[in-house]
Amino acid sequence: EREIQVGLLGLGTVGTGVASIIKHHQETLSHQIGRKIVIKRALVKDKKKVRESWLSNLELTENANDIIEDPSIEAVIEVMGGIEETRLLVERALKEKKHVITANKDLMAEHGSTLLQMANEQKCDLFYEASVAGGIPIIRTISEGLSADKLTKIMGIVNGTTNYMLTKMSANNRTFDDVLLEAQELGYAEADPTADVDGIDAARKMAILSSLAFSSPVQIEDVSVKGIRQVSDVDLAFCQQLGYTMKLIGVAQKDEGQIEVRVEPTLLPNAHPLANVHNEFNAVLVHGEAVGETMFYGPGAGSLPTATAVVSDLVAVMKNMQRRVNGYSYQTPLFQSTFKTEDE
Ligand code: NAP
Ligand code: HSE
Repeated sequence: EREIQVGLLGLGTVGTGVASIIKHHQETLSHQIGRKIVIKRALVKDKKKVRESWLSNLELTENANDIIEDPSIEAVIEVMGGIEETRLLVERALKEKKHVITANKDLMAEHGSTLLQMANEQKCDLFYEASVAGGIPIIRTISEGLSADKLTKIMGIVNGTTNYMLTKMSANNRTFDDVLLEAQELGYAEADPTADVDGIDAARKMAILSSLAFSSPVQIEDVSVKGIRQVSDVDLAFCQQLGYTMKLIGVAQKDEGQIEVRVEPTLLPNAHPLANVHNEFNAVLVHGEAVGETMFYGPGAGSLPTATAVVSDLVAVMKNMQRRVNGYSYQTPLFQSTFKTEDE
């Protein structure tokens, strides 16, 4: 059986999930793509760190060149996080004509337009389904499933850590610090959880979704952001008594050509569908002129749900490789339309 060699940049919460899915779903995967997926090497910060014993047959490296410069590696999976160092690695991988899959919303919100453009020039795929809403395939839904519609509004819970925290604080009267620690231990939070609790992670995800939905790059600076740092278990108990649930809600809407994007703690009536999204789960309501309102729901953070999105992107990359051989391919959706209308 033919193989495809891939390199992992990162072997933490998501990287370990990716290795697990490739190991346990190999038959399902190779049935779809006709090739066995082999992780040739994984980049880590510290090779000596204690890892799960089943990972011991993976070759680890602390030198990114061992992946980026290895000609046998056809696809690079970036699950290490960070922005500047990671951007350089992704750019180098694309220049080496490697397809790239990333779960990194920080990178995509800051540099997505440039990187996607570069990927298209290199005739490589750059897929990033895991960067928003973990296990919900919302990026493909917006860019493909709803491509016939004119989208007008996206509203959702797109951060698992804060939703987990708000759920536990309101149901069990637990303190902010206590539930944040738990969300970190469960692998939901970012390496620096400030991005989660201050709404920045959600703002980056809303910037990515609105760039795709409205075909116009939305910068993170354009998103108005408030996090949940000021919210206490006492506030949440009051809300409950009054029939409301507090959620960290992202809203992106396009009205008369103007795009407005915001993230803020919001009181929802208990019967609202987003009020019933609990723990690390996410949900996204998408409004389109023709479709009306559709809602997508699923786990928004954590090792295996996120890794499912990453490995599904790898399957998409491999299907595209086959299409290229046959003379056609699916192009990675850009944040901005490249087609000009007559009046532009
Ligand atoms: P993590 O558990 O902290 O893992 C990061 C991995 O990358 C570790 O293996 C670490 O090495 C390695 N690494 C980090 N910086 C490095 C560097 N400078 N050089 C070499 N190796 C480096 O992070 P994670 O939770 O898996 O998240 C990874 C990415 O996925 C982030 O972009 C995050 O935003 C995104 N994401 C996470 C989730 C989630 O639920 N956790 C969901 C969606 C997207 P060591 O193992 O040696 O420390
Ligand atoms: N820290 C992120 C969250 C991970 O809690 O939603 C998933 O993107």
